[in-house]
Amino acid sequence: MKIAVIALGKIGLPLAVQFASKGHEVVGVDVNQNTVDLVNAAKEPFPGEAHLQEKLTELVASGNLRATTDYSDAVPGADAVVLVVPLFVDSEARPDFGWMDAATKELAKHLTPGTLVSYETTLPVGTTRTRWKPMLEEVSGLTEGKDFHLVFSPERVLTGRVFEDLRKYPKLVGGLSQEGADKAVEFYNAVLDFDERADLKRANGVWDLGSAEASELAKLAETTYRDVNIGLANQFAVFAANNGIDVYQVIEASNSQPYSHIHRPGIAVGGHCIPVYPRLYLWNDPEATIVRTARAANAAMPSYTVGLLEGAHGALAGQRVTVLGAAYRGGVKETAFSGVFDAVNALKAAGAEVLVEDPMYTDEELEKFGFTPYHFGEPVDAAILQADHAEYKTLTKEQLPGIRTFVDGRKMIDSANFEGVTFRSIGIPSDSKA
Ligand SMILES: NC(=O)c1ccc[n+]([C@@H]2O[C@H](COP(=O)([O-])OP(=O)(O)OC[C@H]3O[C@@H](n4cnc5c(N)ncnc54)[C@H](O)[C@@H]3O)[C@@H](O)[C@H]2O)c1
Repeated sequence: MKIAVIALGKIGLPLAVQFASKGHEVVGVDVNQNTVDLVNAAKEPFPGEAHLQEKLTELVASGNLRATTDYSDAVPGADAVVLVVPLFVDSEARPDFGWMDAATKELAKHLTPGTLVSYETTLPVGTTRTRWKPMLEEVSGLTEGKDFHLVFSPERVLTGRVFEDLRKYPKLVGGLSQEGADKAVEFYNAVLDFDERADLKRANGVWDLGSAEASELAKLAETTYRDVNIGLANQFAVFAANNGIDVYQVIEASNSQPYSHIHRPGIAVGGHCIPVYPRLYLWNDPEATIVRTARAANAAMPSYTVGLLEGAHGALAGQRVTVLGAAYRGGVKETAFSGVFDAVNALKAAGAEVLVEDPMYTDEELEKFGFTPYHFGEPVDAAILQADHAEYKTLTKEQLPGIRTFVDGRKMIDSANFEGVTFRSIGIPSDSKA
């Protein structure tokens, strides 16, 4: 097959590589010339994706994969076009379709009859049918269901292990017609390799969910589930700590029964996905009280954590407080919707002098976010651990000279390393040694 992949980002490039590895002729389109040049030179444009570099080297050399900024070079005559341009959201997670609209119009300009178009970017329910179909038809002059087929197929992989996840998770598709869905099932069966290990939860392969809307909702549901679950874990954590109970012990005990899957509480739910997709869901279902309440509960956790610090330390006015971790989680250089922002704001509102440390960011990068960089060894009165970077696992009080109070927002530090320091963890009673 001749396949075009629109957007060669952290998801699109590994997808293009996967399709090419099955012997298809793949052309990736990206507006970023530098990305296109790097791909054509068989150099991965971003680090951290397992096996990407070795596969790129092989597939660019074999001629199965190349990149371009020119849609007219990739789209006409393609059997399939897969689009995974990001959907942007504002700080309130309201969708901004700007990049996706631009890509859709450009794709439509060059669309020719006989192509299957699959959107993989996570979308609010109904977007495929009510936004992309009319836009594609109007610009291309072609008719969906007759000249081309349009489907939605959410991408469910985690960056860093895309190839592994592509084999492991069923590929969900939903069309606007049965014929379109059948074509999508055929397409994804031809470009993916499915792992049929017996320990997988469900039959692997391509699943036709019957409509684009069901497929859009499936992605929002699986991610919103996690946010709601964490919201519940946070609620239990606050209650447990106030009542002399260690919530981690309780969660472990609860989850020893097979129907309980309580997640971990913590200072924040960050990143591009989990705090965002519940909002995309709420965009269509504003009355969803469970989703809204859980999102609000999770969004309140950074200031709850600052309150925990204040309760243990005393007034924070004039105190030097460092936040450990700008990233939204450990080991990832990404600050999208990171808890660092709300934690820093809450500390500043309490009058603290706030500093930020992160092993993945340079001082200049931290300053660009408006943070004052902190370096271990500098005097500090208190600290909050925000991201579970592996480097923090062995942290000791000696690295934080003068520290009087430490709040572990991720329950990853051994409090024995902080002897003599007032130590708090979310979900652990204040008189606990844990
Ligand atoms: N990153 C993840 O962990 C993840 C996981 C599952 C699903 N997804 C989905 O994938 C989408 C894309 O995420 P990503 O991490 O690959 O994004 P990314 O930021 O890594 O890459 C986006 C790419 O899109 C390109 N681009 C922007 N406008 C374009 C246009 N008009 N035409 C062609 N290319 C264009 C950019 O130059 C960039 O290379 C997300 O919005 C999400 O819905 C992401």
